[in-house]
Amino acid sequence: MSIVFDEKSRFFSLMTENTEYQIRINELGMVLHTYYGKRVGGFDMSYLLKELDRGFSGNPYECRNKRGISADTLPQEYSTDGAGDYRVSALSLCLSNGSGTADLRYKSHEIISGRDELKGLPYVRAEKDKVDTLKIYLEDKVAGLLVVLAYQVFEEKDIISRYSVIKNESDGDIFLNKAASACVDFMGKDLDLIHFHGRHAFERQPERRRVTHDICRIGSKRGTSSHHNNPFVILCDRNTDEWNGDSFGVMLMYSGEHAQEIEKDQAGTIRVVSGISDDHFRWKLSKGEEFTTPEVMLAFTDKGLSELSFLFHRIIRENICPGQFRDIKRPVLMNNWEGTYFDFDDDKIMEIADSAKEAGCEMLVLDDGWFGARNDDHAGLGDWVVNRNKIKKGMDKIADHVESLGMKFGLWFEPEMVNEDSDLYRAHPDWALTDPDRKPVMARDQLVLDMSRSEVVDYLYESISGILNSAKISYVKWDFNRSLSNVFSRALPADRQGEVAHRFVLGTYSLMERLRERFPDVMIEGCSGGGGRFDAGIMFYSPQIWCSDNTEAINRLKIQKGTSYGYPISTIGSHVSASPNHQTGREVPLMTRAIVAMAGTFGYELDPRLLSSQEKAMIRDQIKTFNKYYDLIQKGRYLRLSDEQDEQYYTSWGFVSEDRSEALVSLVVTDVRANPEVMYVRLRRLDPDAMYEVDNCISSNAQVPENGVYSQKTEGEIYSGAALMNAGYAFDPMFGSYPAIQLHFRRIY
Ligand code: GLA
Repeated sequence: MSIVFDEKSRFFSLMTENTEYQIRINELGMVLHTYYGKRVGGFDMSYLLKELDRGFSGNPYECRNKRGISADTLPQEYSTDGAGDYRVSALSLCLSNGSGTADLRYKSHEIISGRDELKGLPYVRAEKDKVDTLKIYLEDKVAGLLVVLAYQVFEEKDIISRYSVIKNESDGDIFLNKAASACVDFMGKDLDLIHFHGRHAFERQPERRRVTHDICRIGSKRGTSSHHNNPFVILCDRNTDEWNGDSFGVMLMYSGEHAQEIEKDQAGTIRVVSGISDDHFRWKLSKGEEFTTPEVMLAFTDKGLSELSFLFHRIIRENICPGQFRDIKRPVLMNNWEGTYFDFDDDKIMEIADSAKEAGCEMLVLDDGWFGARNDDHAGLGDWVVNRNKIKKGMDKIADHVESLGMKFGLWFEPEMVNEDSDLYRAHPDWALTDPDRKPVMARDQLVLDMSRSEVVDYLYESISGILNSAKISYVKWDFNRSLSNVFSRALPADRQGEVAHRFVLGTYSLMERLRERFPDVMIEGCSGGGGRFDAGIMFYSPQIWCSDNTEAINRLKIQKGTSYGYPISTIGSHVSASPNHQTGREVPLMTRAIVAMAGTFGYELDPRLLSSQEKAMIRDQIKTFNKYYDLIQKGRYLRLSDEQDEQYYTSWGFVSEDRSEALVSLVVTDVRANPEVMYVRLRRLDPDAMYEVDNCISSNAQVPENGVYSQKTEGEIYSGAALMNAGYAFDPMFGSYPAIQLHFRRIY
């Protein structure tokens, strides 16, 4: 059992292979956090708690003269408002008498083998793992409140997941103003915070700064997890780097409005509270009702950021993404969006399919514009019927044609949206989220459907199912192209409007779940104007997500690197698009674009009819290369091999198989120089005693000018693992426009 309770000292120890999390119940029944870090073998870490009188930190009534006991200074497992803790709280509410106080004390606990599945919310699946659950029941007898703190311990994965359940056992209504998933207090640590900010077409850029005596809030009030702040934060020692040092990861599995609050208190304790954002949240709990928060994953390692990433990559790939798409080879796709935008008909799409086939693609995805009266982005959303003016022969004919070529066929949807200019909106204007008597905020000329209403979800389920049943469709691209505003449901009373933002997310999850149940072999690729809903919650339903609307390879280096801190390569949708690029106008060689896109799910997004036969041949080879290393890329350990300093010149990354028998290393020169330095890239996680041969090399050296020497004769080179790890591979200088190279190393003895 990975969870131990010591009756005498009343402390819990939650142990994974390398980490330990401890909780102590003090004499008043306060549930205190004592330790999270490297495994300490069950040794009671309560000695770390010091009961010091800090003044102006009040004491529970029972021990009003023991001034060191204060909710304000002791580390808490689930902090509340009103009972003397002045730091960021996890729970904030209003009781039926108007009081805002919640004072939770230990009631009982259970230690269970296995875990509960959350209904309607994503969670870390137990799969074949050994999982133990600790449930601590806390109560506030005066308020009539029961809170369950659930901890799932994934021993072999070094992950602990948490969620909370709040139950109204009083006779009146309780309003929750905030109900976070977790609160973790770190004592005695001077930590840096790394979070991932961004914007449309430039998502998940890491920003690192020291945690200071303020409250830092990383969150979204846009209705989705957002391009702007990802629900994933890292806290690490100030000197932690990729390969060394302590780091803690907090990843919320939620696709809606979220907040990660980080506060350093008067005594230097650093608190992290993670959960649904309280900006638009006010949940009415009637007598007997309960509220379950989303789940959050916690990880710790003392081996640097690379290992922390690995822990999240593994759990997401193996325990969160839907099972059947985890291990099967996913097809290399051709998407028509940047190739045609809205300008297509069925003949053109079939021609594109033919050319995509010639280039070696395995799936054709028909993007936006095939339905309703959708000829541009002003009309048609919500009308999930085939536009017979464009698709004259019918969707089944396109699908049959694509299948006859030996490819799969996929289709784009944007289920949660509606245009004013649509039959759906004309029939049901009240199905859109809008304020009464007020013109709504428009974005991309569209509105958002009220997913809190079951009739809306039912309509979408039926209409999308109708399309999926009408043709051989193997894949759905599920888009979401605006932030929420005017979050008002015509179906809920005034005192429940604060529930809409969360009910919206639950509605989306339920639609995804129902469609997945009915069409288990249809893979959903998530999308939200690129990576605006790139989170571990949506990954429970869709194993890959379009990472960014920015398809430009040099920009993508940064976007994909930032994304890789939390999320596995197998989730990162990445395509080769045309050059000059549509977002930046930059020209990048085809091979460089492919090498960058191979650090993802890999596909193409251009008009293949415009490719020369030489380009088609190159693409066929690129797809062969990707497929050859598919398992290594999707399941191997991903390593960020260049640091900030290197990246002024080049970016490098790699994959190493778990058994260390092979590695794939890629490098892109982003700032080509005259008379440049040699690029020494240290590989990691190889077997130091083994010998490795470079048995495959692809590069863009076709771009090398006549007098520029690219001398590297890579294939057949042999190195020891120790040499490659300690001194590094010596990449010769490369010239031309954004040159790139990818080497495969195989262990030979
Ligand atoms: C979003 C997506 C794109 C494309 C368009 C279609 O921006 O991210 O890939 O599907 O919508 O409108």
